[in-house]
Amino acid sequence: MFEKLAICVVVLLLAATQARAETIEDKVQVCAGCHGADGKPVDKTIPTIWGQQAGYLYIQLRDFKRGDRKSDIMQPVASQFERDDMLAIAEYFAQKPWPDLGQPRAPKDVAGKALGASASVGCPACHLDHFQGDGTVPRLAGMGRDYLAKTIADFRTRARGNNPGMSDLMLATPLDDLAALVDYLAGL
Ligand code: HEC
Ligand code: HEC
Repeated sequence: MFEKLAICVVVLLLAATQARAETIEDKVQVCAGCHGADGKPVDKTIPTIWGQQAGYLYIQLRDFKRGDRKSDIMQPVASQFERDDMLAIAEYFAQKPWPDLGQPRAPKDVAGKALGASASVGCPACHLDHFQGDGTVPRLAGMGRDYLAKTIADFRTRARGNNPGMSDLMLATPLDDLAALVDYLAGL
């Protein structure tokens, strides 16, 4: 009798948790509203997350939740998730293809200036030669132009304060070099 009852209770409990268990697809539905159902962000100041490095995506979600990277939009979104969710969501988006935003290639003189600045600062030491990123270092190639300009400006004012090293680097790089880098990276 007790055994039957215990089994009943277990079955009921499992059914209840299954009804509540959301799949990763359920959890990422909300993201499409801004980051795009096809991976192309709905606004130019919103970053591409399709095809971004998983380690980097995870750190951003963690930092938004902690408030280390301040965003009134992303903080409440990230706060719903625990570490395991964040890791799974990061992996989910990293597997997607990087979208082509159709941004123009930088003209030769701008590209030359950008590459000169990149070589003297040493961006490829971390972001790699084709700016594809790796692990916790983000891909920059083909990222939205307006987002790049905004987040670089935020590093410089430390409004984006989750990586002081990147802020120091951006502050040490002349503004005209950064403008050239933004055009160059967006067009890759
Ligand atoms: C209401 C719009 C909105 C929604 C919904 C939204 N995001 Fe964002 N997301 C943004 C904006 C805007 C930024 C840029 C924040 C900033 O830099 O100030 C951003 C930034 C990010 C970043 C940082 C990317 C980078 O290159 O630094 C990640 C990762 C991210 N969002 C993941 C997600 C995930 C995952 C979801 C769904 C669970 C989601 N976002 C839902 C608007 C949104
Ligand atoms: C010492 C390693 C290192 C060097 C050198 C470096 N970066 Fe970064 N960069 C990083 C890391 C790590 C991050 C991620 C920071 C975080 O977690 O928020 C980052 C983030 C960025 C982002 C934000 C991307 C996004 O999606 O929000 C931009 C833009 C960027 N770097 C541009 C540059 C440029 C341009 C240069 C050269 C002028 C450069 N970086 C040099 C390590 C580096």
